[in-house]
Amino acid sequence: MNDEKQAIGVVGVGWVGLVTATCFAELGHPVIALDIDEEKVEALSGGEVAIHEPGLAEILARNAERLNFTTSMEETLAGARLLFCCVDTPPTYSGDADLSSVRAVVQGLPADSDHALVMKSTVPSGTGAAIRRDKPDLAYVSCPEFLKEGTAIDDFMKPDRVVIGADAGSEWAADAVEDLYRPLGGELVRTDVASAEMIKLASNAFLATKISFINEIANVCEATGADVTEVARGMGLDRRIGPSFLRAGVGYGGSCFPKDVSALKQLAGNTGYHFQLLNAVIEVNELQKRRVIAKLEKHLGSLVGKRIALLGLAFKPDTDDMREATSLVLSARLQGEGAVVTAYDPVAEKSAAGLLPSVELANSAAEALDGADAAVLVTEWNEFAELDWPALSESMARPLVVDGRNFLDAGALRDAGFTYEGIGRPNGDS
Ligand SMILES: NC(=O)c1ccc[n+]([C@@H]2O[C@H](COP(=O)([O-])OP(=O)(O)OC[C@H]3O[C@@H](n4cnc5c(N)ncnc54)[C@H](O)[C@@H]3O)[C@@H](O)[C@H]2O)c1
Repeated sequence: MNDEKQAIGVVGVGWVGLVTATCFAELGHPVIALDIDEEKVEALSGGEVAIHEPGLAEILARNAERLNFTTSMEETLAGARLLFCCVDTPPTYSGDADLSSVRAVVQGLPADSDHALVMKSTVPSGTGAAIRRDKPDLAYVSCPEFLKEGTAIDDFMKPDRVVIGADAGSEWAADAVEDLYRPLGGELVRTDVASAEMIKLASNAFLATKISFINEIANVCEATGADVTEVARGMGLDRRIGPSFLRAGVGYGGSCFPKDVSALKQLAGNTGYHFQLLNAVIEVNELQKRRVIAKLEKHLGSLVGKRIALLGLAFKPDTDDMREATSLVLSARLQGEGAVVTAYDPVAEKSAAGLLPSVELANSAAEALDGADAAVLVTEWNEFAELDWPALSESMARPLVVDGRNFLDAGALRDAGFTYEGIGRPNGDS
């Protein structure tokens, strides 16, 4: 029996591509990974990982001899028959997914290629069909990626499910992809390309809907005196509902949910279908980011000249990704109200610096909170739960915390003399 491992090509080594490349190398496959960003390729070839993803740098170092980084498509085509496409698909102004990076990859493939393009990038339903119209000889598999930044390695190695969509003529490639993922043990979902593409967008839209739903429940809880964390706990124990994505807060962000929800809404709109529910999901999310302002004003009155410290900037903990982070909207709104904004994030300072030029970035939570009129917890980094809050209450101009993720111990903070405001929770002063 030949147990030589299949060579893998990866095109685009951002979050998804780098995790895919390093994890396949960890599973013993030789990997050739292509990116157009020369600096990135050079850094990765030297073992440097520019993004913050737990465990990634270690796996890369362990598998350096199986991983080759290049800027040459020719070299990539010579190195592997299966090409995992992991390039970016950001939103356009219209809300559609921008497929120009995907198109550039497809254009770079020879017309008579005997390769297979395995699409990991999130693309609208219909993209695979359009690619095969242009390149009928190219085998094409839709294998959408479901990893979550912060736990990406685990998500890759222990997937809930792996979706593999292929149409007539591409079965050999789908079988090869199935062989690659079978050892990981997740449920394998074999389907057609259009359905695979839709599974990805529908999954993210559903999760975003769950978040906006619980945020609306939180807002009603605030009016009725109920505690949304209790409500979510009671709801989540129902197996038909499940506990995940029922955490009320200051809205979702990141590189996926906002763009994928908007891409699905737009995809439906382009076919003449008005996806009403997604309009509400997006609107609720936008309003939710701004509700913090009213909470601050309730205690501080006008925010003009008030010093507000943001704890956490990344769109979620364990990543330095600032794409569509709630902190961007919040800091702009606070500054719009005349507040002076300081901020601290354990890892996102570098990626945030260029995006938040007029926010004072501190080197620690204590530094950000020193002299502040209020703290707003935006990202639930563990270290914020472990801060010496009683000591911090002394250094702040006013001991006020708005906990945008219902993450801190409200009772302990109140005992330490803080006014505590969560999201959808009784505020204790009524
Ligand atoms: N980040 C996530 O958590 C996540 C999760 C699931 C799915 N996705 C999807 O995966 C795709 C990639 O996301 P990401 O966050 O890794 O993006 P990213 O922006 O971090 O990385 C994309 C990479 O592709 C490279 N690239 C662009 N055009 C190229 C080309 N023509 N040839 C070679 N390389 C090229 C870029 O230089 C960049 O390094 C997107 O469609 C995204 O929606 C992302």
